[in-house]
Amino acid sequence: MYTAQDHQRMYTQSKALLSGAALPAAELMQQLQEVILYADWRYYVENDPALADAEYDQLFARLKKLELDHPDLQSADSPTQRVAYGISERLPTVGHLVPMLSLDNTYNAEDLTDWARRCAALVPGEEIVFCVEPKYDGASISLIYEQGKLVRAATRGDGVYGEEITNNVKQIRSIPLQAGFTKDQVQQIEIRGEVVIHKDTFATLNKQRAAEGQAPLANPRNAASGTLRMLDPNEVAKRKLSAILYHISDYALEPQAVRPAALGTHFDSLQWLYQLGFPSPVKELKTFRSIDEVIAYCADFEQRRDDLPYEIDGLVIKINSIDQQERMGMTAHHPRWAVAYKFKARQATSKLRSVEFQVGRTGSVTPVAKIDAVNIGGAMVSSISLFNEDVVREKDIHIGDTVLVERAGDVIPYIVKPLAEMRDGSEQAIVFPTHCPVCGEQLEKPEEEAVWRCINIACAAQVVERMIHFCSKDAMDVRGMGESNVNKFFELGLLRTVPDLYRIDWSRVAQLEGFKEKSIANLQAAIEASKKQPLNRVIFGLGIRHVGETTAKNLARTVSHLRDFYQWDEEQLKQLDDVGPKVAASITHFFASPENRHMIDLLEESGVNLVNHHRQESQSDSAFSGKTFLFTGTLSQMKRSEAEAKAEAVGGVILGGVSSKLNYLVVGEDAGSKLEKAKKLGTVSILTEQEFIDMIG
Ligand code: IVH
Repeated sequence: MYTAQDHQRMYTQSKALLSGAALPAAELMQQLQEVILYADWRYYVENDPALADAEYDQLFARLKKLELDHPDLQSADSPTQRVAYGISERLPTVGHLVPMLSLDNTYNAEDLTDWARRCAALVPGEEIVFCVEPKYDGASISLIYEQGKLVRAATRGDGVYGEEITNNVKQIRSIPLQAGFTKDQVQQIEIRGEVVIHKDTFATLNKQRAAEGQAPLANPRNAASGTLRMLDPNEVAKRKLSAILYHISDYALEPQAVRPAALGTHFDSLQWLYQLGFPSPVKELKTFRSIDEVIAYCADFEQRRDDLPYEIDGLVIKINSIDQQERMGMTAHHPRWAVAYKFKARQATSKLRSVEFQVGRTGSVTPVAKIDAVNIGGAMVSSISLFNEDVVREKDIHIGDTVLVERAGDVIPYIVKPLAEMRDGSEQAIVFPTHCPVCGEQLEKPEEEAVWRCINIACAAQVVERMIHFCSKDAMDVRGMGESNVNKFFELGLLRTVPDLYRIDWSRVAQLEGFKEKSIANLQAAIEASKKQPLNRVIFGLGIRHVGETTAKNLARTVSHLRDFYQWDEEQLKQLDDVGPKVAASITHFFASPENRHMIDLLEESGVNLVNHHRQESQSDSAFSGKTFLFTGTLSQMKRSEAEAKAEAVGGVILGGVSSKLNYLVVGEDAGSKLEKAKKLGTVSILTEQEFIDMIG
């Protein structure tokens, strides 16, 4: 175990090494080993990294280079000579068929040129083709198929042993449970890949967690790796993981079989996997004949890294010919025939100067850290949400702390942790306010929630945030009525409530600086157009707590007019898809409020659409009015969206999953678990596509 002095010493030593301290080789190597071992322990055992990833990589590379230059000084227990530990005890441990090696890293053109030169020297006189694909920033997995069936999935673990996660991996829809390997006489095959969470799925997940008062997940990588190791596969299924499979690490053929031609190159083997139904990165795969072309491609790709739906932290360059790969072989840690090109780091350290408290649309009070501005991967960051009090306490963040900040792609920046070893005693605890910083109302904290709230619905901060939300792109989409104009109009008293939007005194606006005839006309047109928005956008725009876009859509299609909800009780609401007790309570609470009813009257008087036209036109007295439908499998006579529209046209409601609320399950070809579940329930009428068409006429 490390003592307090050890921590301090390791910190100073690592900073000195990072700044390139000049020492005799033997001493330098010994110090590097010490710091790397310490960093490994902090990362794998303590789950509390001491160094930024790029810093660690830099020190590791330096030690390796020294060992190459001074083989006589290399010790057998150097951290470069073994793979790190990291197995959780909760899941069964399994051995990999072949060790799951990691990749050597490169950071610039020079590193890549060196690597290509080393490769060329291993296959003298031969032409080399390079294959380039993204380096996915997720959790690595290995899959074993026997006789075409998925029999085992495992995490990387320490590279030799991993955790068995077969049941969890089976929840990932893109991973085939069986595939036609036997037709190519492949008896057994081990495939490696990465499990990722798409950035938008990650954002939704965190929004849900925030609404439920749970601490947010740090980044998509942690979310993916944590999800894979959950003990309940049902929870895994809810997280919508994706997989990318990029390497065949081992296979066994039937006796006397010949190697399938596709397995001769990396490019063809990924195409082959793709043909067999696997999510392999064929669209992202590029081949090049010279390393200079590879370098140009890497530089260009780095600019576009945020265009992909998931996080990547670099590119991987592989030698295309499998025969050449085999002859190049591997070191104890990585293959010689592949290398990672790492993009610029997106972590930085900075000083936390103060904390401000912001009041949101629903009165939630969020602590926001103000840090010295730092450039992280090309964006300046100076304000970072700390989410809630629990996060601040758990991470033990203080004012005056030096903090490690990460910005992962489109994900908002967050504080990974404070660097406790940098403290000098002057740091101060973050004190949470007892009263609203905007209106002065006493704050409340419902027991099951992590956030403090201002419950004064007339609080200026909330009113402004509600108006911004009402006008936002996904709600009423009033272009030009963003944060700045709403704030300006509010301060001038031109806008006090949401319905005021439709009776702005434009003669006063015309006197304001920056508002010319044209911009006023544009604003007026956008406001006018918003009156015709469909009901689901109005419902979403009202900002009812726990009612997101999907719930708003589900709500909108069940009524003819917004006021119908005045008659609905919680029990009726809970019958709807996506509506649990908490959401139902929030909706009834909203529509019971006289202020909200008055607001709805004013909106209607202004000409805002509160009617569900779709439903009014549909046969609301039809036999299917209010009946619930779900479609599964592949339909042959129409697209699923068309079928859903037909069901809605007769007053039906589309559900998202099989439950006791479901009336009809329409089954196409290759229907899977939904059909099984419906059969088990026994209360669902199961129809073929033709029966459905006949039924609704
Ligand atoms: S190939 C034997 N390809 O990066 C070579 N790895 O630091 C097997 N990774 O452990 C690895 N994207 O988890 C390969 N396109 C890709 C990758 C990739 C991400 C991960 C993998 C590996 C780590 C290496």
